[in-house]
Amino acid sequence: MKFFIDTADIQAISELNEMGLVDGVTTNPSLIMKSGRDIIEVTKEICSLVKGPVSAEVVATDASSMIKEGEKLAKIASNIAVKVPLTWDGLRACKELTSEGYMVNVTLCFSANQALLAAKAGATFISPFIGRLDDINIDGMDLISEIRTIYDNFEFDTQILGASIRTVNHITQCALIGADVITAPPNVLKQLAEHPLTFKGLELFTKDWAKTGQKII
Ligand code: G3P
Repeated sequence: MKFFIDTADIQAISELNEMGLVDGVTTNPSLIMKSGRDIIEVTKEICSLVKGPVSAEVVATDASSMIKEGEKLAKIASNIAVKVPLTWDGLRACKELTSEGYMVNVTLCFSANQALLAAKAGATFISPFIGRLDDINIDGMDLISEIRTIYDNFEFDTQILGASIRTVNHITQCALIGADVITAPPNVLKQLAEHPLTFKGLELFTKDWAKTGQKII
């Protein structure tokens, strides 16, 4: 399973990238707003750091404007994946942009039927939003399972990109179900390393080691 980082924070991306944990990056208008940076400049900087796909989202709502914005974003670097919303116009833009040879990430997916349409439109990635479904008491993981089954039934190449990840459990479940990619905020990815028994065990080893009076270096 590939790890994408869901942020436009250059420092956070660099830190995780140095550990080899960054297979790609996803951004959206809210994350660009949080970064306080110009979309073109910050996206260019991310693309220079990361080899894998970097999603940059269009903001227009009609297909022809989405296509124009997508073409402009795609010119930033060869690893741009143009992100379009899962609307009828977004699907039309997806079809056109993929036929022009660009990677497309279809975002704001909340149903298996939407994911089916995105695959038919040639999407490179489909982004089902797990956390936002959980927020309204619908199990977001059920959607990941349904899409996995449908895509496997018909051998669609579209990669399932689990998005709106809020907890490490979302990542475990995505891995078990077989999502191709997850995109998570940097703090959630770092939490994957945490376990209370690890901390407790380390504390005990440190205390016992002090009692030996030894040094390794
Ligand atoms: O990748 C989409 C993601 O950024 C949405 O996350 O937590 O705002 O629902 P969230």
